[in-house]
Amino acid sequence: MRKKLVAGNWKMHGSLVQNNELLDAVIAGTAGMRKGNCAVCVPYPYLSSVQSILQSTHITWGAQNVSQFSKGAYTGEVSAAMLNDFSCHYAIVGHSERRSLFGEDSHTVALKYTAVQNAGLMPILCVGESLQQRDTGVTQQVVTEQLDAVIGQAGVESLRKAVIAYEPVWAIGTGETATPQQAQEVHAFIRENIAKHDIAVAAGITILYGGSVKANNAAELFAMPDIDGGLIGGASLIAEDFVTICRAGQD
Ligand code: PGA
Repeated sequence: MRKKLVAGNWKMHGSLVQNNELLDAVIAGTAGMRKGNCAVCVPYPYLSSVQSILQSTHITWGAQNVSQFSKGAYTGEVSAAMLNDFSCHYAIVGHSERRSLFGEDSHTVALKYTAVQNAGLMPILCVGESLQQRDTGVTQQVVTEQLDAVIGQAGVESLRKAVIAYEPVWAIGTGETATPQQAQEVHAFIRENIAKHDIAVAAGITILYGGSVKANNAAELFAMPDIDGGLIGGASLIAEDFVTICRAGQD
């Protein structure tokens, strides 16, 4: 059976005090859940404190970005090995905000993906189309290009140690969620695409949906056959909502 995962993406939110309160409530609310079903991806400066809060709990943690380089004169960058020093399980790569606001192309994303795996962490690889791309009917081409960049660089086998997040850009932070059917259609397409390379890898990979997942729509999204959980932005900052979503994504 595929591993289910609900991962919070805090983006550039939080403070030491707020994080403590949020995590205390999430730990309590998800008590009894299996280890690894629920994760939070936090801003770099909080990794140390999040590690000490979560290390003896069932919740795992990660970062939201990483450098494609292993070390050197790259002012302001953070390497995957540094994330490993804080026992991160995950690093998100290729989030649409990184692609659109910080100019990351699919080649750079593939390099980041490999850097994360080389350090022994799991990349959460984000793919997804913009509204204009959906409206012009090129969703499948866009997602294929984003995926192929990674498969071409790291090989299909690498997906055994990765998570994919399908995040339609038009649904991120907008309150406009893809319907379960719309999301399922693209998830199934992604899985079929991977199956063309390797059927077992396709069957085993966890594919998350992201984009305005809320407490009141998570269960119906996660009930779809190819949706294995979610990558949660805004709702991961509200303990009660995130707990409800984590519970909906349990396996
Ligand atoms: P959202 O963000 O849940 O706030 O739409 C999702 C994401 O960007 O990962």
